[in-house]
Amino acid sequence: MAIENAQALQDAERARAQERIQRRKAELASRAKDEFLAVVSHELRTPLNAILGWTVILRGRSAPPELDHGLSIIERNARAQAKLVEDVLDVSRIISGKLALTMGVANLADLISTSVETVTPAANAKGIRISVDIEDQPLAITADAARLQQVIWNLLSNSVKFTQRGGAIAVHARRRDTDVQVIISDTGEGIAPSALAYVFEPFQQADASTTRRHGGLGLGLAIVKHLVSAHGGTIVAASDGEGKGATFTLQIPAHIAVAALATTKGAAKFSVQASEGSNSPRLDGLKVLLVDDEPDALEVIGEVLRSQGADVRYAPSARVALDQFATLKPNILLSDIGMPVMDGFSLIRAVRSLPSDLGGDIPTIAITAYARAEDAVRATRAGYQAHITKPIEPDHLLRVLAEVAGRT
Ligand SMILES: Nc1ncnc2c1ncn2[C@@H]1O[C@H](COP(=O)(O)OP(=O)(O)OP(=O)(O)O)[C@@H](O)[C@H]1O
Ligand SMILES: [Mg+2]
Repeated sequence: MAIENAQALQDAERARAQERIQRRKAELASRAKDEFLAVVSHELRTPLNAILGWTVILRGRSAPPELDHGLSIIERNARAQAKLVEDVLDVSRIISGKLALTMGVANLADLISTSVETVTPAANAKGIRISVDIEDQPLAITADAARLQQVIWNLLSNSVKFTQRGGAIAVHARRRDTDVQVIISDTGEGIAPSALAYVFEPFQQADASTTRRHGGLGLGLAIVKHLVSAHGGTIVAASDGEGKGATFTLQIPAHIAVAALATTKGAAKFSVQASEGSNSPRLDGLKVLLVDDEPDALEVIGEVLRSQGADVRYAPSARVALDQFATLKPNILLSDIGMPVMDGFSLIRAVRSLPSDLGGDIPTIAITAYARAEDAVRATRAGYQAHITKPIEPDHLLRVLAEVAGRT
């Protein structure tokens, strides 16, 4: 009896040890995958940064029509590629439970108009009409505005993608008792009953053949579904079948917490920002020290800042930046994070250790191709006020810079 008990105990102990080893292995594998994705997305973003930055700059300089046409195609494709990278990263964040929402006040009506504006050129090109019917009631809710924008944009761009030339898309939004409802319907190719149950699964596409007519990875709706659930909402797809159009109904709870209103104004202001284009803030008289080991990045970011009147000084390494810091007396420091020998974390620590009359409390922004939430957290913990990811959106960069430099 005693021997049997001892044996059982030993077995249980062995099983537990085995389980610990397995868990540890799984953790390590998951971390390795995370790191791998972070590195890959970093390497993919870095060239996109120069491509996108320059096309936006050159297009802003009233290029001759043929050149502008070419540039607009480069810009559209660079954005499409940036979105692919972003989607793959989002899915990996979702899988590892690391997709965090930044709650603030979001006005659904604004998010809808911005998303409609964004897809309008693509819709126009296919002769698709978009009608928007927003009820005349406040549609402000507590949400992550940027993520909700992503949801609506994804639904709209699917409708444009899967609707034939000359079709129509309708967007209705209204407030109900406890939630806000957005319905996006189109007259497009519709969804077969057998496919309807799977549209929200990652990598599921009605047409995944090599001869398929539409691009995409099939991640859009999987991300949408997750983001909607994270907001406590629901999303349902409906279609009468192939060729009969599709309707997506989105519901987000509308409880507006007054406390949230008060504390997250700043966040909302930042996340609602959209590429409004032309009225970027001027930066005249602002001396910017720009640090990046990559010459293309220095040049493109420098150009964006100079175009708005900033006085830009360049440092190809953190060491050089630090050596010049005292004599240059910049008003703001913009630095890359991943640099050889001395990285952006060491740089900010060195700067922050200076007395304030030598610039120790200078406003700083990290500009990096590391786009994970934890990278932003690390950058801000190290002492940067803001974190911007490459590829930079010139307009976004300018606005964040103006905000951090106290120019707004
Ligand atoms: N409005 C729609 N009309 C018809 N089919 C749709 C519509 N929206 C989605 N689908 C179907 O659901 C599938 C999954 O959509 P999802 O947005 O996840 O992927 P995708 O658009 O193919 O690629 P991605 O969004 O990753 O670029 C699509 O491939 C398509 O078959
Ligand atoms: Mg899609």
